[in-house]
Amino acid sequence: MAMTSSTMTDGASEYRDPKRAVAYWLFVCAAMIFAMVVIGGITRLTESGLSIVEWRPVAGTLPPLTDVEWQRAFDQYRQIDQYKLLNAGMTLAEFKTIFFWEWFHRLWGRLIGLVFALPFLWFLWTGAVRGKLALKLAGIFALGGLQGFVGWWMVTSGLREAMVAVSHIRLAAHLGLALIIHLLVLWVAFDLLRGHQFLHALEAGGVIWHYW
Ligand code: HEM
Repeated sequence: MAMTSSTMTDGASEYRDPKRAVAYWLFVCAAMIFAMVVIGGITRLTESGLSIVEWRPVAGTLPPLTDVEWQRAFDQYRQIDQYKLLNAGMTLAEFKTIFFWEWFHRLWGRLIGLVFALPFLWFLWTGAVRGKLALKLAGIFALGGLQGFVGWWMVTSGLREAMVAVSHIRLAAHLGLALIIHLLVLWVAFDLLRGHQFLHALEAGGVIWHYW
């Protein structure tokens, strides 16, 4: 497709365009969400998801730091049926491994929240984001919060008597919402770049790839 001035801004004004900064920030968020999907998958495949049996959004940022704290976390895990029916006899060292993945998954979630919220506030403050775009991004942030709740709601399903894993329906809701959030972030980012050189470069790359 021939590039006209209406489909492509010139280099200098594009450089100054705050939309571009917003779009690049959203790409960083999307990459972090993609990594989260991978970490979530590892959490599931290593059967680590029920190792943290409490929901402490702030205090849970740090893992247990002393032997006493580790023993407390392990004792809590030993109360649930997954331990009794599947993992009886597990050592503290083994417990620390499954704990790591669930803790890291939750920590990464908190980090995504910060990497989304702080620049968002900055962009609102500077006026780079306003109106409809601000509403869309606030909606995505709310979905991210909901994802955390769905995560915990899913964990509670696995803590019930005779359960050794989380509910597959809640797991599907958790995975589905993760994919929807990922898609929405990318959608808004690409929409912001419409007509920019970056997208044309991507398009050109796609065309070359197609005819390779
Ligand atoms: C941005 C936030 C989050 C995203 C994108 C995300 C995404 C995912 C994904 C894709 C999986 C794998 C699902 C599968 O294998 O089908 C997963 C697993 C899991 N997530 Fe999250 N998650 C998030 C936050 C949380 C939070 C805050 C919690 C806990 C409070 C949580 C708890 C879990 C658990 C326990 C599993 C493993 C499930 C199992 O035991 O089988 N997630 N997550």
